[in-house]
Amino acid sequence: MEQYIIRGGNPLVGEVEIGGAKNAALGILAAAIMTDDTVLIENLPDVRDINVLLEAMESIGVKVDRISRHAALLNSEHVGEVSVEYEYIKKIRASYYLIGALLGKYKKAEVPLPGGCNIGSRPIDLHLKGFKALGAKVSIRNGFIIAQADHLHGSHIFLDTVSVGATINIMMAASMADGYTIIENCAREPHVVDVANFLNSMGANIKGAGTDVIRIRGVQKLHKTEYSIIPDQIEAGTFMFAAAATKGDVMVKNVIPKHLEATTAKLLEIGCEVEEFDSAVRVVASKRLHSTNVKTLPYPGYPTDMQPQIGVTLALAQGTSIVTESIFENRFKYMDELARMGAVVRVEGNTAIITGVEKLSAARVCAPDLRAGAALVIAALAAEGVSTVDDIIYIQRGYECFEEKLRGLGAEIERINSEKEAQKFLLRIV
Ligand code: EPZ
Repeated sequence: MEQYIIRGGNPLVGEVEIGGAKNAALGILAAAIMTDDTVLIENLPDVRDINVLLEAMESIGVKVDRISRHAALLNSEHVGEVSVEYEYIKKIRASYYLIGALLGKYKKAEVPLPGGCNIGSRPIDLHLKGFKALGAKVSIRNGFIIAQADHLHGSHIFLDTVSVGATINIMMAASMADGYTIIENCAREPHVVDVANFLNSMGANIKGAGTDVIRIRGVQKLHKTEYSIIPDQIEAGTFMFAAAATKGDVMVKNVIPKHLEATTAKLLEIGCEVEEFDSAVRVVASKRLHSTNVKTLPYPGYPTDMQPQIGVTLALAQGTSIVTESIFENRFKYMDELARMGAVVRVEGNTAIITGVEKLSAARVCAPDLRAGAALVIAALAAEGVSTVDDIIYIQRGYECFEEKLRGLGAEIERINSEKEAQKFLLRIV
């Protein structure tokens, strides 16, 4: 099983380029099915989740032409199947975006019910509530969600919980329903706006994305488009905290600073210098950071996908911090791994109490999920000594060239697959 081997203690210094937003790309790829014309999508991140979704799309008849590492031409004229195989949804939950797209265009979809995952139970009741409100019959049979409608009609839908996935999935289905749909209590994340902008570039009529009320006038047909995905604010924030935790100086390029406001605010609060440019942010941490309190909230609040990254940084800050995870019920698993590196942490329900220590010590740790895995790499980069991180396949789901980008900032990190490769790394760094 592949691991990262890391010798910590070097401040990260230099520049790093951010790729396209995984969570925008997943919705946009699914939405591309909704036209029979050819669609060009650029700034696609080359990460496992994207590649698996493209395979799932090919499996139902979408013609996928990867014209470069970060661009694809998609044509769905010959989609003959509206049933997605279980193997794809098992690999990535976001295959469920195919329900909204297929239901909107073909008025029928059969997609396996996604299971839970490492950060919580992840229900999709709100997605299904929205599809039913639009006139679809939705049943669950043999582990599959079967949604079909003779006719999709506009509706006034109120989401009980702010949900990125439900907002995007219902928006897609409603964009080709007859009539006017209002979705209330919507998610406002930048990737929700990006999917709405993509659909509008194909001729949809969606207003209000980015606010908590989205208004959609359904259209009969969507047409071709060329579209470039927004930069990934979670990848950007991950590198910003890597700079903070290693007392570095990093210019994070190709970002939209506005999408990073909550992250920037917390970095300033704990004592970093953050300088914003048109499409870059620079993070400098020259002295020991200090504690703060943070609670994860839907955008524009502090993102849950940035919770592990601030958690590991606060483990080194002066003072005691309180981190409250209000979105998912099981997103502190990494704290046990962090304690093995000498962190002083206590988790009580959805709250972690972190008492900062001067130094973390290297250890062998295990990535419990995508963002926590990236956060443990940050901890290892800050720790004294040589650490290894297991189960890095989670990290590869959402971070393209993660170790190469970190090496470009001076990190001593290698991806290894054997004890022999570990020995080679150790010989090289001594
Ligand atoms: C998206 O997940 C992201 N994934 C997650 O990022 C992110 O953590 C999450 O939004 C919150 O920002 C993708 O975009 C592919 P939600 P999603 O629906 O849409 C509850 C990453 O690291 N809920 O906004 O599944 C749910 O249990 C991943 O890239 C319902 O109760 O999240 C949670 O408590 C991890 N019923 C809350 O809403 C529903 O039908 C927010 O979940 C749907 C959600």
